[in-house]
Amino acid sequence: MEKNPNAENGNMPPSLATDAVLLKSEAIPNGTPIIKGYDFNEGLDYHRLLQTYMTSGFQAQNFGKAVEEINRMISCKLSPLSQEHTIECNSQQTYREKTNCTIFLSYTSNMISAGVREIIRFLVQHKMVDCIVTTAGGVEEDFIKCMAPTYMGDFNLSGRMLRDKGINRTGNLLVPNDNYCKFHDWMMPILDVMLEEQKSVGTLWTPSRMIDRLGKEINHPDSVYYWAHKNSIPVFSPALTDGSLGDQFFFHSFKKPGLVLDIIEDIRAINSIAIQSSNTGMIIVGAGLIKHHTCNANMMRNGADFAVYLNTSSEFDGSDSGASPDEAVSWGKIRKTATPVKICAEASLVFPLLIAETFVRRQQEFKNFRVTLAAEN
Ligand SMILES: NC(=O)c1ccc[n+]([C@@H]2O[C@H](COP(=O)([O-])OP(=O)(O)OC[C@H]3O[C@@H](n4cnc5c(N)ncnc54)[C@H](O)[C@@H]3O)[C@@H](O)[C@H]2O)c1
Repeated sequence: MEKNPNAENGNMPPSLATDAVLLKSEAIPNGTPIIKGYDFNEGLDYHRLLQTYMTSGFQAQNFGKAVEEINRMISCKLSPLSQEHTIECNSQQTYREKTNCTIFLSYTSNMISAGVREIIRFLVQHKMVDCIVTTAGGVEEDFIKCMAPTYMGDFNLSGRMLRDKGINRTGNLLVPNDNYCKFHDWMMPILDVMLEEQKSVGTLWTPSRMIDRLGKEINHPDSVYYWAHKNSIPVFSPALTDGSLGDQFFFHSFKKPGLVLDIIEDIRAINSIAIQSSNTGMIIVGAGLIKHHTCNANMMRNGADFAVYLNTSSEFDGSDSGASPDEAVSWGKIRKTATPVKICAEASLVFPLLIAETFVRRQQEFKNFRVTLAAEN
């Protein structure tokens, strides 16, 4: 009778099991980081805590990698310009300064509805980013917040009850409908003047020019687009009609028809910024239009040099929202040589920490850089 190799032999366990379970490993390459988290016995130090994310695993590790990627972006930006690149972004917008890395910051509308707005405003106020892409809500909510606040609410509040009270819900935030009435009253005379300029001096309005004008009109230091206007940072929003702004265009078209918004001039402007940049970096918070529009502009230069995605979308459904940075490499939207990072996380939790560990910690370097730049020009 043949011997069964799996059969027990006295006190010996089956060799099939021992071979499977007690398999010998190849040595891990020298220098491979060891997984270790923060020890609160060392006291409470948020910077050191966040530094340990890199060796903590999962999305904490991706956070650590994203900090490194953004810091590489910043170092590139603050180093001398490698070639003479001019940035002709938009014929009616003031000339922007040249730096060695053009940083694209893109975010979904809800970022402005949430407190992420204040983090974005900081970056724009201190000229740390060069080009913005957002959706319509990401534009109008910023202006509306200068007129009336958004309040804390709850995901579980009844829609019927809120509708009866004239209160709108965005996640667990509440926006009284009165806010949009105030926005309407503010927008109508501005649209009148824009239409007049279009007719009298032939102004060709694009979404970026309109946002620049609204940033000028709001004249409020809390506003992201007030600072974008002051610092000549272009804001692209090709679907500017898909929000309360679209409602205002609709109403205005009955009162005074004829205002035209040209998106072709803007696609030329954003693509030109990517093409004419020495290097580019993309920080994309959320997904959908803002992600694709930014990546597509960077395809025009055979890919961004640096990239960080931060979103909750997954790739199993084939959506562009969930597409990994490596998928973007296949399209030439991110360079083959880049080291892009995707953090799978909710942005209101993660984005402030990401900016704290990168741009905020390097604020003095930005200040020194500006002094040098001013002395050269
Ligand atoms: N406050 C608002 O959200 C608001 C207001 C007015 C109009 N709108 C309009 O709704 C349309 C759709 O909005 P959108 O394109 O800005 O994005 P969206 O809200 O449809 O989100 C797109 C994707 O981004 C990711 N994402 C969104 N929020 C995230 C978060 N907190 N953390 C991580 N990932 C996140 C998700 O993968 C999501 O599927 C736009 O046309 C916009 O103008 C939105």
